[in-house]
Amino acid sequence: MKSFTRIVFVAGFLSTLLMGQWTIDPQIEAKIDELLAKMTFAEKVGQMTQLSGINERYEEMIRKGEIGSLLNVVGAKETNRIQKIAVTESRLGIPLIFGLDVIHGYRTIFPIPLASSASWDTALIRKTSVIAAKEAGSEGIRWSFAPMVDIARDPRWGRIAEGAGEDPFLGSAISRAQVLGFQGKNLSDPLTLMACAKHYVAYGAAEGGRDYNTADMSERTLREIYLPPFEAAVRAGAGSVMSAFNEISGIPASANKFTLRDILKGEWNFNGLVVSDWNSIAEVIQHGIAADKLDAAVKSLIAGVDMDMQGSCYIPALEPLVTNGTLSIDLINDAARRILRLKFMLGLFEHPYVDEELHKEIILNSEHIQTALELARESIVLLKNEKNILPLDRKKIKRIALIGPLADDQQSLLGCWQCMGRKEDVVSIHDGLKNRLGGDVVIDYAKGCEINSDNKGGFKKALQAARQADVVIMAVGEHAYMSGEGHSRSNLDLPGVQPELVTAVAESGKPVILVLINGRPLTLADVEPQVAAIVESWQLGIQHGNAVADVLLGNYNPSGKLTASFPYTVGQIPVYYNHKNTGRPPAGGVESLNSKYIDCPPAPLYPFGFGLSYNTYKYSNLKLSSNPLPIDGELLVSVQVQNTGKRDGVEVVQLYLRDLVASVTRPVKELKGFQRIALKAGETKTVEFKLTHEHFSFIGMDNKRIVEPGEIQVTVKDLQDSFWIK
Ligand code: GLC
Repeated sequence: MKSFTRIVFVAGFLSTLLMGQWTIDPQIEAKIDELLAKMTFAEKVGQMTQLSGINERYEEMIRKGEIGSLLNVVGAKETNRIQKIAVTESRLGIPLIFGLDVIHGYRTIFPIPLASSASWDTALIRKTSVIAAKEAGSEGIRWSFAPMVDIARDPRWGRIAEGAGEDPFLGSAISRAQVLGFQGKNLSDPLTLMACAKHYVAYGAAEGGRDYNTADMSERTLREIYLPPFEAAVRAGAGSVMSAFNEISGIPASANKFTLRDILKGEWNFNGLVVSDWNSIAEVIQHGIAADKLDAAVKSLIAGVDMDMQGSCYIPALEPLVTNGTLSIDLINDAARRILRLKFMLGLFEHPYVDEELHKEIILNSEHIQTALELARESIVLLKNEKNILPLDRKKIKRIALIGPLADDQQSLLGCWQCMGRKEDVVSIHDGLKNRLGGDVVIDYAKGCEINSDNKGGFKKALQAARQADVVIMAVGEHAYMSGEGHSRSNLDLPGVQPELVTAVAESGKPVILVLINGRPLTLADVEPQVAAIVESWQLGIQHGNAVADVLLGNYNPSGKLTASFPYTVGQIPVYYNHKNTGRPPAGGVESLNSKYIDCPPAPLYPFGFGLSYNTYKYSNLKLSSNPLPIDGELLVSVQVQNTGKRDGVEVVQLYLRDLVASVTRPVKELKGFQRIALKAGETKTVEFKLTHEHFSFIGMDNKRIVEPGEIQVTVKDLQDSFWIK
């Protein structure tokens, strides 16, 4: 055992050295040395200060070198105007970085991240980040406060909408894709964005799913579940990380030396900059670990936060604390150095201004719109399709009743981070059906009710439409701001009287296709039995309506797979796929004493990785390349997948491992590989996965990553095999 552990440590150590996202450029460091030597204390903490918006006071502060970055200022002309003040009217002419929340698109708005994660298409997700960078860069933005890589196991938490769901392996792959997309090959390209992995760390573990609430967990859980997507972002070269609002087991994330300096800047050798979340340095006073802003500033600096977003804690009044030895000037110099390093890498000293014509051929161009449609289609998850009612048979359908408060909605389809998106750019579900059906099918639209009200006044008209129709499509769910920051819900049912509307319409006897528009998993156990089909369409951005129509009409064969579990009831939460077995796993019978509920199944209604298609796929010939496997060996897993349907389609092949006996308890399954494969009707392909010690490793008793000998079970769909690590 000892020798094996050593092998992993050596490998791990080497990867740490290599992972430091980019090697430090000595020429840049020499320029920083020269600049730092000239800078006053006030100018250094000025670089460490980020403020939102612009006004005359801020312009004066910029002239004095008291601001290093602005957020929420956009437009080539405006950013150039302000940049000119910094470069030509301040003593040292250090350029500003302009930052913005370009979370899922700048003006071309793509699906919310929880939706796009359901595509499992990291290549396409990366492409949308490239597009977002081009659009934002053309309007003076060089820093995106994205990707949001918080693992979320609690759909009550509104910000589950912004991330890639509950799994660290998929979350890490998507984190990497977004960083590479934003930052491109060279960060000095004006059409790239410095990425910012956020919110470091464990923000999604808020107790009760209540935003900003306490996160308290073992170091092992932190390292197994919440840290990996951040490590993936750092390995991919992310220029920045944002420290979170929440506390982590007693220490606020924005004053947490263990997570920031020991792990991020130490173990991972992160050379970029850490920016606090909005005012989160000052909020350590609310947390109760600092007496005032100067105390908060010292604690955050010691912890490793380099830039203060909108908190104004990093101020010249800190200088006496340096003089009296409370605060080391080295911390100030290191923070300022990191910020200047990124400004040099972004090319801002050489090219501080943006070409004011560039945006004209970039913003919302046809290629970007087409990409938005592609990702929107791939993000849709088919949850139910009784008697294959979908895709709709256009020969039999002459009249559709389109009912629901989101059928004509455009604003909500942009999701909770709308950036520069405009509702007039959005194709509603109603318009999407009109676009795809043309005039040969009547669409009888009736809103039925509001999204979140108790008014049933619209039911009558909706029922009339349903009675006259061949099929009913109901567009129901949440508005954009029922999820996102500060918008957690304690009840995950369809809001308002929508459930009653579904029941009333279903009682008309006409088949109902439920199209969901939502920013989180919902509790659907009550509506599910009443409808023939359920199409999870999330908030898909500007091409939402066309994508939904393409799936409903069979122009696109749905391939999405859930990345966050849909609970039966809120009472099940947290419910997630990679759970532990316990000593008494759930078994049948109310009397038996095991880990179950007496009033609800133990499993979610729809689990992680689930999604239907208009095809079926047959898996066979699961093969493992070796058994036993030496501790540092590579395992090749192959499986054949056949499209047994009549339509071409895409299948997301998922590979799970289970470590059957280990020195700590291990999940009943863990995703360790996935591939999207296109299969023509009847076609068979062989899919191969290469697994290394990194796939078999886990956080052991002493919170170090190790690999142990033992039996590992491999599961791909309904096939299972196992091998021994010797
Ligand atoms: C917000 C969010 C963060 C965002 C920042 C700037 O409070 O927590 O995700 O990047 O402030 O808007």
